[in-house]
Amino acid sequence: MTLIEARNLPSHVGIIMDGNGRWAQQRGLGRAEGHRQGSQAVRRIVRAARRLGLRALTLYAFSEQNWARPEDEIDALWVLLREFLLSEREEILDNSIRLNAVGNIGRLPGVVRAVLDPLRNESSKKYEMTLTLALSYGGREEIAEAARELAAEVAAGKRAVEDVTCEALHARLPSLAVGDPDLVIRTGGERRISNFLLYGLAYAELHFSDALWPDFDAEDLYQAVASYQNRERRFGKVGKAAPLVPELASEGGAPRESSPALLVAV
Ligand code: IPE
Ligand code: IPE
Ligand code: MG
Repeated sequence: MTLIEARNLPSHVGIIMDGNGRWAQQRGLGRAEGHRQGSQAVRRIVRAARRLGLRALTLYAFSEQNWARPEDEIDALWVLLREFLLSEREEILDNSIRLNAVGNIGRLPGVVRAVLDPLRNESSKKYEMTLTLALSYGGREEIAEAARELAAEVAAGKRAVEDVTCEALHARLPSLAVGDPDLVIRTGGERRISNFLLYGLAYAELHFSDALWPDFDAEDLYQAVASYQNRERRFGKVGKAAPLVPELASEGGAPRESSPALLVAV
């Protein structure tokens, strides 16, 4: 059993769901079967995340680069996604989950958009958790799109060059509308980001799990959250650990972050 503090939950968790193909390969099955089992894991983890009280869960389901995979594998993925959306519709609505999608959604087959778009609309009214599916998504592509939008505003005279700021860019990244990810989990054993949420990752905590995605369960999610809760996020500032100059700290001076004397002492 994993103990999780009710306070200090990550608000936004992102998951790079990797390892479906290897799961199938290990069993002598086709890759599509791995994706089928992977979609069961999605059901499980969405339920667990909602029970836990996360505000936002972003699942990396298909990258812009995944279009380079064999056509039959891609087709199988869209069939599974459509099935997932149809079968989970009620559960999503009954559990106050808002379904969202980020990425190049226009590139998805019409049969997927035909179920995705109405559910996005229907679920947006009243919600406790936002479930975002990253589909045909690329972090670089998303940043480039935001940069194009800002450049167009500058070219049209609607924005000054000095107003092309981090905040302006952030505000144009749909994947970060729910806030930066606090915790990003990658399953499947690889230690890389593979073009996920690049801009938002600046201060995310990373958790790598060796479990292949079809095997990832609620307990694995709880362990990742518990590991997050044991970390100190510093955002570039000085941490709360033992003072570097104990004598000064015990004199009850200003907090260390705002004490230039201590910084010089380092
Ligand atoms: C992740 O599993 C699912 C998608 C990228 C769509 P993979 O299909 O990448 O599985 P592995 O990495 O080949 O095992
Ligand atoms: C990342 O997995 C993309 C998704 C989980 C959707 P990949 O399997 O595509 O990443 P690489 O190729 O191992 O970097
Ligand atoms: Mg993979």
